[in-house]
Amino acid sequence: MIKPGSVEEILNTAKIEDIVGEYVTLKRRGVNMIGNCPFHNEKTPSFTVSPTKNIYKCFGCGKGGNSAQFLMEHESYSFPEALRHIAGRYNIEIEETVTSRESIEERQMLDSLFIVNQYARDFYQKQLFETDEGKSVGLSYFKDRGFLEETIRKFGLGYAPGEGKLFCKTATAAGHKDSSLKKLGLSTSYGKDFFRERVMFTIHNLSGKVIGFGGRILKKDVKAPKYINSPETEVYNKSRVLYGAYFAKKSIRQNDECIMVEGYTDVISLHQAGIENVVASSGTSLTVEQIQLVKRNTPNMKIIYDGDTAGVKAALRGLDLVLEQDMNVKVVLLPEGEDPDSYLQKLGAADFKEYIDKEAKDFILFKTNLLMEEAAGDPVKKAAMIKDLVASIARIPDPIKRSLYIKECSHLVKVEEEILVDAANKVFKKTFKQEQKNKERFRSDSQRQGGDGGGRPGDNQEDNSASAIPKKEAVQGNEFQEKDIVRLLITSGGEIFDEESKTTVAAFIVSNIEEVLDDFDNKQYERIVRECMQMLNDGKKIEQKHFINHWDDEMAQLAITLLHDEFEYSTNWKDMWEVELQTQPMPEQNYVKDSISSINAFKMRKIDKTMAKNQERIKTAQEEKDDVKMMKYLRIQQKLLAIRSELAKAGNTVILK
Ligand code: UTP
Ligand code: MN
Repeated sequence: MIKPGSVEEILNTAKIEDIVGEYVTLKRRGVNMIGNCPFHNEKTPSFTVSPTKNIYKCFGCGKGGNSAQFLMEHESYSFPEALRHIAGRYNIEIEETVTSRESIEERQMLDSLFIVNQYARDFYQKQLFETDEGKSVGLSYFKDRGFLEETIRKFGLGYAPGEGKLFCKTATAAGHKDSSLKKLGLSTSYGKDFFRERVMFTIHNLSGKVIGFGGRILKKDVKAPKYINSPETEVYNKSRVLYGAYFAKKSIRQNDECIMVEGYTDVISLHQAGIENVVASSGTSLTVEQIQLVKRNTPNMKIIYDGDTAGVKAALRGLDLVLEQDMNVKVVLLPEGEDPDSYLQKLGAADFKEYIDKEAKDFILFKTNLLMEEAAGDPVKKAAMIKDLVASIARIPDPIKRSLYIKECSHLVKVEEEILVDAANKVFKKTFKQEQKNKERFRSDSQRQGGDGGGRPGDNQEDNSASAIPKKEAVQGNEFQEKDIVRLLITSGGEIFDEESKTTVAAFIVSNIEEVLDDFDNKQYERIVRECMQMLNDGKKIEQKHFINHWDDEMAQLAITLLHDEFEYSTNWKDMWEVELQTQPMPEQNYVKDSISSINAFKMRKIDKTMAKNQERIKTAQEEKDDVKMMKYLRIQQKLLAIRSELAKAGNTVILK
């Protein structure tokens, strides 16, 4: 693991304008820089970079973060990968923790597996281009399919020779361990080559490293399967990989759409024809992780199915998963007997493109039509089909979309809307409850494993799914002051509150709300205050960048959202958050006044609560005719009232929400 100190150094050295500037053209505007957001389509720039805060923030789509987060979002790097990239750029030597020997060994082991895989790729490629067998069998096959040499090299295509042990022999002679070959599924348990007499397709992870292979047989009339693929290994987690994603990710973002096909050859063909935003599920049904991988780049997905209806129907079942992730899914069905590769060859690139654009049908409507055809004239089948359909619709998280689909479908299947709404609501409630349960379980699990502030949980290969956009969050009455307090802590916690005693804003705030902290409604805000408390106890300075660079993404995103207030507000911002902004950016000098009024407001809220409780007691005493008690509570009430008006006087600008 990268040492926390090193992480800090890397993040502090990284200049956000350098890192972002590699991908986005930035223009100065006041203290900030602006450009067109690389994460969503826009014509007027709302993507802001703040060199002083060392963060970026898009007012259009809400994405924001530090240099590492930018790279994770933009390049789909994992956190360590992003750090290594930055370190490389600024020539920073990375210190890895030595405390955990296992993790170093594990890293080295993983690195060595990648090296072996890369060696295998080179071997197969050499066989393809430089041996007689490779040239006459493999290369001629690829050429027949219309693959250019450039494409073949780019995608790492190759040839595994017929001789049963050639690869293993060569690899071990070159110093690679038997055990590594086995681990990667490159050799069988008998020490023979796993891939023999097959053309080879290299499978890459998102950073372009070789993680596995698929091998296609060329001989006809043999019992062996058409493709064999590398098994799941320590570097190849099949449910998280989409074939071609490494080559497609840039284009997916540019086109704001991902095209999904079934086969390796489809990806390569389309790519060669200039359609680069394409990936393959490799013949298996899609997983949630694969969809999330797409979703990080675009919400729009177009799935092209080979032209056979039986296969399509089976595939459609798996698609409800995509709906759940709130993706916009379109489906294209190719003519009978065609796959994207063959049809593209037939039509040529331009006509093919036109075909898939024209034929793309909304998934739900496509499914409805397909099932309708099937159920024609059979009421029992029709009832079952409607259930199926409703179950799909119920998976859509967005209520507006859901109701639009119901309208459309009720029309198509000729069933009253209310009946469909009713059925969908039932399913929706059921799954929603289940989900809440799962989430709670997940949350308590992850709390138990909670970090110690050092490393960053989930440092593995591709797990950077936590880069969630901060959702528009309605600030409810009681959270208003809490939010204000936390914003002050983050933005100005380290500033001096009182010149004489050198008390910091954070110390002032924390000491004043310590005893009522349990009362916080928003647990995340509470966490931030507690963390500040801990930092003060440890004699650490409270700094913005501590929170911006927080190992816990949720905390970091929250900090960035709060810091957000200090940016210039763009009109997009207003549209997105549906609020009219009353105030100008918070003047940074106001933190002393703000601290006092925030705390006062918070305390008043607390007093209001106590008064309400006390009022209850008075009422009970009255009912029970217990005059002694009643007098006591009345006195308390008076005292509370006095404190309250004191507070109100002190912070004359206090707004109670
Ligand atoms: P296809 O049979 O459509 O293969 O299977 P293809 O890639 O289009 O190949 P060509 O055009 O016939 O040469 C689609 C995908 O399903 C997986 C592979 O990932 C393939 O690319 N598959 C298929 C297997 O894993 N094993 C098989 O036996 C068949
Ligand atoms: Mn195919």
